[in-house]
Amino acid sequence: MTRPPVPRSRPVLPDTDAAAVPLIEGMLQRRTTNGPFRPDPVSREHQHLLMRVAQAAPSHFNSQPWRFVLIEDPATIAHVAGISGQSMTELIEAGAFFERYRRYFRFSEAEMEARRDGIHIDHLPGPLRPFTRQVFSDAGLKLMRQLGVPKKLGEDNRKLVAGSPLLLAALLDRTEYRPGELSGFYSVFGLGAAVENIWNAVGALGMGIQFISTPMEIPRQWQRVRARLHVPEDLELMAVYRLGYLPGGERRPTIDWNSRHRKHLGQFVSREVCGVAEEESPAVSSQMSAKSPRR
Ligand SMILES: Cc1cc2nc3c(=O)[nH]c(=O)nc-3n(C[C@H](O)[C@H](O)[C@H](O)COP(=O)(O)O)c2cc1C
Repeated sequence: MTRPPVPRSRPVLPDTDAAAVPLIEGMLQRRTTNGPFRPDPVSREHQHLLMRVAQAAPSHFNSQPWRFVLIEDPATIAHVAGISGQSMTELIEAGAFFERYRRYFRFSEAEMEARRDGIHIDHLPGPLRPFTRQVFSDAGLKLMRQLGVPKKLGEDNRKLVAGSPLLLAALLDRTEYRPGELSGFYSVFGLGAAVENIWNAVGALGMGIQFISTPMEIPRQWQRVRARLHVPEDLELMAVYRLGYLPGGERRPTIDWNSRHRKHLGQFVSREVCGVAEEESPAVSSQMSAKSPRR
């Protein structure tokens, strides 16, 4: 499953200092990779560069609560891939995934255009296409089971993870990460900033990144990942990602989505007080609406 090429339209950067353009363009073009990576290993230099940009992130009192594990051992990657694929099959089979996340799914370009958030399922296997909208209903779920979709999606997911040359585990120091306390929030915020730095930097290195999140949805499976990575008591495993260099041509996954839309300024920015929608500057808004949404 891969994605169509990204239209590389230049982002709108009115009167911007030329030196800032590559950085800002890079951030505007940051994206999540749903498809496969090239099998070649990620160079140690690139791995360490990603760790450097991660630790350049802000953290409360410069506590640097993040920890990372770089995973290249094929046996560990295969193990995590197996857990990820099984988790995907379990989640789809039980309908749990769609039930939990139904509100984020959009089924047409028009729906996406109106909301400008969520993910538009624009790529489904042939037999399911006529039932796009029913995919979340009991009947749709039954059909998916009959067609073996949960197993197919699980196997696709396992292959994607297994074919990734690098996994990255992101952890937090539990002396800082204390859920329910401000320190817990600050730690998550700091880790988010660190991961965002990585997410932004991979594009410049010809790489991609994707969450391996299905095991997190099932506590028993997440525990298996923890055990495999020997996560000690004083650390909390927060997330696992797959990374690698991007291939040239892109083939899309069996079920794929487009989530490049972003809300208009007035939909998420207020002026002075909440509820006073910020107005789009005319020059920028006309250029933005002329652009096709990036994937
Ligand atoms: C907290 C968080 C959880 C996410 N979980 C997943 C995930 O489980 N699988 C996945 O493919 N992408 C995941 N994403 C990526 C989002 O789907 C993606 O950022 C969003 O659809 C916008 O697409 P873009 O990153 O390509 O701009 C996650 C992102 C965040 C910040």
